[in-house]
Amino acid sequence: MVDLQKLNEPQREAASHGGGPILVLAGAGSGKTRVITFRIAHLLQQGIPPQAICAMTFTNKAAEEMRERIGALLHDKATARALTIGTFHALGLMILRAERKALGLPRGFVIYDQSDQMGALRESLRHIKDVGRDGERRFDVKAILTRISLAKNSFIAAEDYKGNPRTSTTTSRRRSIRSTRRCCARAPRTTSTI
Ligand SMILES: Nc1ncnc2c1ncn2[C@@H]1O[C@H](COP(=O)(O)OP(=O)(O)O)[C@@H](O)[C@H]1O
Ligand SMILES: [Mg+2]
Repeated sequence: MVDLQKLNEPQREAASHGGGPILVLAGAGSGKTRVITFRIAHLLQQGIPPQAICAMTFTNKAAEEMRERIGALLHDKATARALTIGTFHALGLMILRAERKALGLPRGFVIYDQSDQMGALRESLRHIKDVGRDGERRFDVKAILTRISLAKNSFIAAEDYKGNPRTSTTTSRRRSIRSTRRCCARAPRTTSTI
């Protein structure tokens, strides 16, 4: 049984919060991770399936620590293992793997990091002669990567982009700003300070 009495009053309030969003703002070492681990353990004890709980952390190390702490609280490592706990990027990769077929990705696909991306782009630029008559490089690799990223964020496919790159980029910027605004408008309202 998870003992919420092991938390102080504001921690307990946050850990036992019912439905709806809650925001916990507190200093380093004040017990935020403790709140989250107790909250997850408490939810599990109330019958919420581990597959329905997702916790995101900044580092893989923090994710593993949290999983361990929850396993210890519950005396149940198997349930803790079934939880989705990880970084934003790990979660993204997990979703891509689970939905690989729907996305039309090949088996064993890989994610390119920044240097892989620069390498691939430099390689393709080599084929289209990246140097002008004056011997200067004509293309800014980082700027091209930014354009590609903006287009991808706006779901603009390569074929559509090819037709009208100028308009596509402007539209993609507008769309990004609009979606950021929508995102901010949905921020949680409840605040608990420890
Ligand atoms: N109410 C509490 N009672 C006992 N120990 C606590 C309490 N709150 C926090 N701690 C301990 O303080 C330390 C820091 O807590 P932690 O949750 O990691 O903080 P944060 O995530 O805010 O940096 C941990 O060892 C934790 O177990
Ligand atoms: Mg912490």
